[in-house]
Amino acid sequence: MIQKIDKQTVRAAVEAAYDRCKEEQGGKNADYIPYLAGVPSTLFGIAACLPDGDVVAVGDTDYVFGIESVSKVPTAILAMDQYGAKEILDRIGADATGLPFNSIMALLLEKEHPSTPLVNAGAISACSMIRPTGDADGKWRAIVSFIADLTGSEVEVIDELYRSETATNFNNKSIAWLLKNYARIYDDPELSLDLYTRQCSLGVTARQLAVMAATIASGGVNPLTRKEVFKPGLAPKITSMMATVGFYEHTGDWLFTTGLPAKTGVGGGIMGVVPGVMGLAAFAPPLDEAGNSVKAQRALAYIAGRLNLGVF
Ligand code: DON
Repeated sequence: MIQKIDKQTVRAAVEAAYDRCKEEQGGKNADYIPYLAGVPSTLFGIAACLPDGDVVAVGDTDYVFGIESVSKVPTAILAMDQYGAKEILDRIGADATGLPFNSIMALLLEKEHPSTPLVNAGAISACSMIRPTGDADGKWRAIVSFIADLTGSEVEVIDELYRSETATNFNNKSIAWLLKNYARIYDDPELSLDLYTRQCSLGVTARQLAVMAATIASGGVNPLTRKEVFKPGLAPKITSMMATVGFYEHTGDWLFTTGLPAKTGVGGGIMGVVPGVMGLAAFAPPLDEAGNSVKAQRALAYIAGRLNLGVF
C-alpha cells in the first residue's frame, strides 16, 4: 500500500458515517432465502483495515452474517491464481451485464458467455474451474482456506443458511444446467452449484471483510499476517471486475457517485477496495431492489467522499 491516511482521520470518518446512517430506514431484508429474512434488520457495522493491519471498527462488526455474493470475489481471484487472468477472461469474461445478479437473460444475451465471475452464472462457472476438478472436498478446502488466508482468520458455513439456500436455489440450478448446455461449465454442474451455494453460506464479519479488502488493496499481501495470498498482478484485475459489476444494475450509479470499487452481497455486506490505501466493509441487512444494502452503501459512500477515496 502506498498512501497512508492517519488512523484518527479514518476513525472520525467511520464514526461519522455510523452516526449519520444508523437511523436510515430504507430497504428490506432479502426474503427469497428464508434464513436472511430472519436476521435482525437493525444490525449495522462499519470497518476499515489500514496498511499496517490496524482495524477501525464501529457498530456490529463482529456479528457473523452470510457472505453471499461477496464470496464471488475470492473465488474469482483463486481461479485467476490457478489458471492466470487471461484464461478467466477467455472462459468466463469480465463484462458488466447491466442486469440482476441471477439473470438467465444475461446468459442468453451474451451468446453463451457468463460475462463475469461476479454474477451468478460466472461465479458457478468459476467454482467449476477451481482445482482439484472432480473433487468436491478438495475444491471446497481450496476455497475456504483461500478465504481464510484473505481474512487472516477462520470462516465457517452457517448451516441453517446453507440448508435454506439449497432448498430454494431453483434459479441457480437452471443457470448451472444452461452453462452445461453452452459448454461454459468445467466440472459437474451439480457439484459446481453446490460449491457456489456453500460459499455463499459462509459466515463472515464486517471486520473480516475489511481485512479481505485490505489484502486486495495491498496487492495480495494480508496486512495482518503479512502472507502473500495471491500473485500481485491479480489485484488490479479483481478490482476492475468489482468496479465493473459490483453493484449489478446499479454499478454505474455507484461508481459515478463514489469512485469506489466494491462488491455487495444479499446478506447485507459490502466490501470496498481502495488500491494502495485501505480496505473497507459495511454490513446492514435491509437491501434495495438490486440486492445491495441500503445503509452499508450510504455509509461507504459517505466515507469515500469525506476521505476522497475515489480511484478516478
Ligand atoms: O445466488 C444467490 O441467490 C445468493 N446465494 C447470492 C446472491 C447475492 O448475494 C447477490 N448480491 N447482492
